[in-house]
Amino acid sequence: MSEIAKIELEGKSYEFPVFEGTENEKAIDIGNLRAVTGYVTLDTGYKNTGATKSAITFLDGEKGILKYRGYPIEQLAEKASFLEVAYLLIYGDLPNKTQLESFQADITNHTLVHEDVKQFFEAYPAKAHPMGVLSSIICSLSTFYPESLDPNRSPEAKNLTILRLLGKAPTLAAWAYKNAMRHPFIYPKNDYDYCKNFLYMMFALPTADYKVDPVVVDALNKLLILHADHEQNCSTSTVRIVGSSQANLYATIAAGIAALWGPLHGGANQAVIEMLEKIHNDGGDVDKWVLKAKDKDDSFRLMGFGHRVYKNFDPRATIIKKACDDVLEKLKINDPLLEIAKKLEKVALEDDYFKSRNLYPNVDFYSGIIYKALGIPTEMFTVMFALGRLPGWIAQWKEMTENNEPIGRPRQIYTGIVNRDYIPIDQR
Ligand code: ACO
Repeated sequence: MSEIAKIELEGKSYEFPVFEGTENEKAIDIGNLRAVTGYVTLDTGYKNTGATKSAITFLDGEKGILKYRGYPIEQLAEKASFLEVAYLLIYGDLPNKTQLESFQADITNHTLVHEDVKQFFEAYPAKAHPMGVLSSIICSLSTFYPESLDPNRSPEAKNLTILRLLGKAPTLAAWAYKNAMRHPFIYPKNDYDYCKNFLYMMFALPTADYKVDPVVVDALNKLLILHADHEQNCSTSTVRIVGSSQANLYATIAAGIAALWGPLHGGANQAVIEMLEKIHNDGGDVDKWVLKAKDKDDSFRLMGFGHRVYKNFDPRATIIKKACDDVLEKLKINDPLLEIAKKLEKVALEDDYFKSRNLYPNVDFYSGIIYKALGIPTEMFTVMFALGRLPGWIAQWKEMTENNEPIGRPRQIYTGIVNRDYIPIDQR
């Protein structure tokens, strides 16, 4: 017999079905709670709220497991290409050779952006943060493709928007950087693969040859895969909620980029490097900064530590830590920030404050060090994260639209003043 949950309220007992997912996670389905009891649930920060049923990504925060469509992240990060993973997330299965070739060709076909888009870039100040630029330019793409405004127009139109977005995002991201440098834009080279093309557009100059280092391409491929999806996090929930109003995909992804920007989410990778630099410039006294992080009267937190769902270890952090060592060794870079990061990790992991709160390094703790080694400037770190997360956001949006999910609209419990009468201004 299937399980039921009983809730007692004001002397009455109500029964609610229990839903069990394929990984045996259980949820009390309270969809009709308010209709039958008059109550709603209160869960600030959605710490215990399953907002959707999803077949894309599974993670077990206690055991440190992460899988995309059933495939362990460790296998994908080791063996797959980013576009294979993007295909897997968006369409549900790994592509065969023909499918991958055609996916790659379709994306390559859309790497160019409309020449008029260049004028948008020129209007931003030189110091514009590339996340602000990326978010607004991606939203602006909707003005160039009015057929995308109705996201339910047809499956073909929807897929075309997906391919356009995947094709143009690296060009726009690289151009956001070029624009900040006031360097000329480098156009995509369509015989390069996704990662190589992005690096080429970022680092090539019209005045000199630029050879993309395969070590850098491999590292970028791995980083993008590790960031490709992470179920219902802040930016993905934003994507699902914005998309649920049937806003077009460009606007929806722009909202996801904005949500990712914050330092408590994707912006943490920039914040980690800034923190490590601060500690380094301050003499490298790790204990002093750990004490600050523990002090409740001090707003300082160890950036890159702690996670809403991983309470044991973040499997992505384990992979990235190793990748970080490999990349620095292969590129023969000796970064003192890596030493500080390792010391900080050791001190924090042995400290009761961090142990008792299950605070472990998250994916962003080491990713900034690799990005730095790859020559990517700090302000671009979160843009890199956005490039990686793009297929995940698209997959989650596609799933939501295909499941005809209703508009996202949480309730609240009002705690303000109940009644007041208007007083004219001269009597206040
Ligand atoms: N440094 C010091 N103390 C911390 C840290 C930290 N990084 N993170 C959490 N804590 C403490 C809190 O002060 C709190 O202590 P208390 O119980 O004594 O009040 C306790 O640990 C629980 O913290 P919450 O903020 O309630 O945990 P929550 O799940 O809401 O937040 C979050 C998770 C936002 C990731 C938090 O750990 C944090 O701010 N980390 C630093 C930022 C960061 O690295 N973000 C990236 C996350 S990964 C990603 O988005 C890709």
